[in-house]
Amino acid sequence: MVLRFVDEKVKMINPQLSWFYTLAVLLALSCTFTKAEIQDNSRLKSAVFLSPEFVLNPGSVINKFYHNIDFPRGHIGIKNFNAEVVDEAGVPVSLQDTYLHHWVVARYYLRKDSKDTPLNSKTKLLQRSDFKWVRNDGVCDNLGQYFGLGSETRKTDTHVPDPYAIEVGNPDEVPPGYEERWLLNVHAIDTRGAVDRLGCTECKCSLYNVTVDEYGRHIRPDYEGGLWCCYDETRCKVKEGFQHAPRKLYLRYSIEWIDWDDKSLLPVKIYIFDVTDTWKPSNGKHQCKIEYEVNHCDSLAMATNGCIDTMKTSFNMPRGGYVVYGVAHQHAGGIGSALYRKDGGVICSSTPTYGKGNEPGNEAGYIVGMSTCYPDPGSLKIQDGETLVLESNYSSTRKHTGVMGLFYILVAEELPRPKAFSII
Ligand SMILES: *[C@@H]1O[C@H](CO)[C@@H](O)[C@H](O)[C@H]1NC(C)=O
Ligand SMILES: *[C@@H]1O[C@H](CO)[C@@H](O)[C@H](O)[C@H]1NC(C)=O
Repeated sequence: MVLRFVDEKVKMINPQLSWFYTLAVLLALSCTFTKAEIQDNSRLKSAVFLSPEFVLNPGSVINKFYHNIDFPRGHIGIKNFNAEVVDEAGVPVSLQDTYLHHWVVARYYLRKDSKDTPLNSKTKLLQRSDFKWVRNDGVCDNLGQYFGLGSETRKTDTHVPDPYAIEVGNPDEVPPGYEERWLLNVHAIDTRGAVDRLGCTECKCSLYNVTVDEYGRHIRPDYEGGLWCCYDETRCKVKEGFQHAPRKLYLRYSIEWIDWDDKSLLPVKIYIFDVTDTWKPSNGKHQCKIEYEVNHCDSLAMATNGCIDTMKTSFNMPRGGYVVYGVAHQHAGGIGSALYRKDGGVICSSTPTYGKGNEPGNEAGYIVGMSTCYPDPGSLKIQDGETLVLESNYSSTRKHTGVMGLFYILVAEELPRPKAFSII
């Protein structure tokens, strides 16, 4: 006789067999099998891809959109997605040389008869009638991506815990005549020889010598720094006479997945929140500005809280579920972020790790990782329509421009089915 676990809905168990279930529960309680998970690692597939090559000179910036990138095909459940910048030899590149402002991977449908013209700009893509975004379930219109991180990429855990996965490529969801594709946006800043490395990474306008944004619109004089000033092909100020060879680089991204199977996988939804969201119950509209500024603290703040800038917002979660993962995204100067319930109960708190050395993954002064939350399955439920509070803290012992306070959670609407024994 062989005992084995099977995934089955308890209610589907034939009444005549219910004693089997009782026996199974008793057996399970008497041994240590109750928490055993089916670990079938042979089903886990993985692949490593390279983005198209990009070339950076000292001070130069790329913010490119790569259309139709390599991605595992078919109906799959993504279990892990991470990335890093590497050189031509595949060697990881230090943030001190190439600051990875962000990489973002977005999902879309393109009509099959569309001409596959290379597209570098997001605006051009959005104007196409043969194109449809497939957004995450979050509330910010301008944060529609599925995956993406910044300098913290190398030391941030991104795996989706069992039995959950991010379901993609379901042929039943693709509109007739369309196919599913993926887009990658990489924003990187070469800070070799920079006059002010941190200033370049914070996109301080004065260092970029720009007066108009990438669409040719004049930049407000009180806008000191941020994405409007460090767009594609701008250049941050480097030390006079500093010369270095152009560098050919790639974003190397790694994906782990399992072929989709309704019996053993449960889908999770992706929600991305932004601390700059100006949502109010009265207007119900989400306006996410993505970036904000942290002002230098005054002497009163220095005496009272040691110069912590706290940004806070609250918003409504239209549809709830069980939280299975959470992580924040902050820039240098960040000292932690948390998602709370209205009554102050912590849903997830995520804090940065700063590097202490020179090697990739440990660059001093940079955020090289963010801590993550993996609540016990079923232990943390957000109710439909619940109001949440997002808080993002930065050190304000100096001014920061273009900082971010995003929070990313994965939510499951279903819990794993109880496991029953079958006796074969
Ligand atoms: C800044 O930009 C102006 C006009 O675009 C240009 O004439 C000037 O040389 C630039 N200065 C530096 C330091 O690059
Ligand atoms: C942010 O700072 C405030 C003020 O010091 C503190 O009360 C709060 O716990 C901090 N939040 C996080 C998420 O670190």
